[in-house]
Amino acid sequence: MDAPCYTHSFMLQEILRNGQRRTDEALERLLPGPDQRPESVHRAMRHSVFAGGKRLRPILCMEAARVIAGQLPNGIEELGAALELLHTYSLIHDDLPALDNDDLRRGKPTCHVVYGEAIAILAGDALQTQAYEVLARLKCSAEARVKIIEEITLGTGTIDGMIGGQVKDLEAERQKPDAATLEYIHRSKTGALITASIVSGAVYAGASSNDVQRLRDFGRSIGLAFQIVDDVLDVTQSSEQLGKTAGKDTASEKATYPALFGVDESLRKADALVVSSCNALDSFGSRAATLKELARFLVQRKK
Ligand code: IPE
Ligand code: IPE
Ligand code: MG
Ligand code: MG
Ligand code: MG
Repeated sequence: MDAPCYTHSFMLQEILRNGQRRTDEALERLLPGPDQRPESVHRAMRHSVFAGGKRLRPILCMEAARVIAGQLPNGIEELGAALELLHTYSLIHDDLPALDNDDLRRGKPTCHVVYGEAIAILAGDALQTQAYEVLARLKCSAEARVKIIEEITLGTGTIDGMIGGQVKDLEAERQKPDAATLEYIHRSKTGALITASIVSGAVYAGASSNDVQRLRDFGRSIGLAFQIVDDVLDVTQSSEQLGKTAGKDTASEKATYPALFGVDESLRKADALVVSSCNALDSFGSRAATLKELARFLVQRKK
């Protein structure tokens, strides 16, 4: 491995480690304690939130803010935590028997396996509700706060957002969809929240509309690449490595990139998306080096 690569990966490790720590500290501060009544739902929320996620959405959010402000703006970790609450809600519901029916997540039994289906549904709902409480209190201008809430609501909603993508994902099981439908599913169910994470971080830091657009283009490319790689890992890695059930997409006849294009072509598509995502950031110059490195990491990750 040559020196620049080593230097970069060391920097990236620091970014990942610090981003995870900041996010975890904020989540610990914000979530109700396990002994707060009603204990069952608070324990279920904490079970899933603290099971060991990579915290990639908060990290992308914080690094987008850093591109704009030159440093991490005060209170940005609360925005990151809200994104992680929403992401974790989506995972709890994604794993439910009525959806993907998974019993392993982040290396632990899924929320409904431990707490039962009813409490798991309510824990997911509660994480979503709490995310908006956190967003309403963000330490930025009222104008930025409203923009951020709108951006995240759209990213998680039914029209080209997370819920819309989840609906089409379920309806596409055993259907062998065309490439356009598959791309729609992936951009919506996963790409939209990743894009909203990046854009909301930029808005928090006071980005101009031109800068928001550049970061949105970056987010759209990297968001799609992220889900393509998630599909590939489902085929190429073990459950132990992933902390979730490997081979599940094939078993459920899900609409995935490897199913339609094969693993090699899927990875080529993900690589091409990384290139276009980085091109979108060129006008930021060296300020965007970390985000570009994060983009490469997202497709090279092994879990
Ligand atoms: C998994 O997301 C679900 C998808 C949207 C593909 P991550 O791979 O970010 O999962 P965690 O948060 O690290 O568990
Ligand atoms: C999930 O996609 C996307 C979400 C909105 C949660 P997957 O169903 O592929 O995610 P995993 O593989 O279970 O994490
Ligand atoms: Mg799913
Ligand atoms: Mg799933
Ligand atoms: Mg998957």
